[in-house]
Amino acid sequence: MDYQILVNKDNSLDKDYIPKNLVLSNSIYKDGIMVDKLVLEAFNKMKEEAKKYNYEIDIMSGYRSYSYQDKLFNNLVNEKGFNYAYNYIAKAGTSEHQTGLAIDFVIYKDDKCYIEHDVEGLNETLWIHQNAHKYGFIVRYPKDKEEITKYNYEPWHLRYVGNIANSLYNNDLTLEEYKKRIQ
Ligand code: DAL
Ligand code: ZN
Repeated sequence: MDYQILVNKDNSLDKDYIPKNLVLSNSIYKDGIMVDKLVLEAFNKMKEEAKKYNYEIDIMSGYRSYSYQDKLFNNLVNEKGFNYAYNYIAKAGTSEHQTGLAIDFVIYKDDKCYIEHDVEGLNETLWIHQNAHKYGFIVRYPKDKEEITKYNYEPWHLRYVGNIANSLYNNDLTLEEYKKRIQ
């Protein structure tokens, strides 16, 4: 697996692409969520560390097949219109969820489950954003990089990139910027 693979609006995956090392996660949010084996191990380490601060985090979305992504995109277009959908959900074939390397996290707090936009501003989210790189993750669609990633800010979406995560975090680089630098 190329843990630094760039998948975005300009770099797509085949319709038939299915990653090899998918494993079932132990998410209590939803049964059946799969992610890359190494990614799950890294996320679980972060999850255990978070528990030391009484932060409860889990996975709400991991691997998504081409057809599932297609369904999500079309549903959001129907619900909120094309322009909104295009800024938040990747068209099928252009989502890094199809690689098994992306995780959307949720936060359990005060008997509530916070998802998507609602995780913004929580201490847990701040902690994740400041520590995820230690486990190989980056916040893939940051607030001030929307023109580069071509997506709106998604505080809930993490992408596993392995040991380059530290460097990306310390130098405030998106994966697009990093890839350009090493070209
Ligand atoms: N929300 C991200 C961009 C995706 O659908 O892959
Ligand atoms: Zn996501």
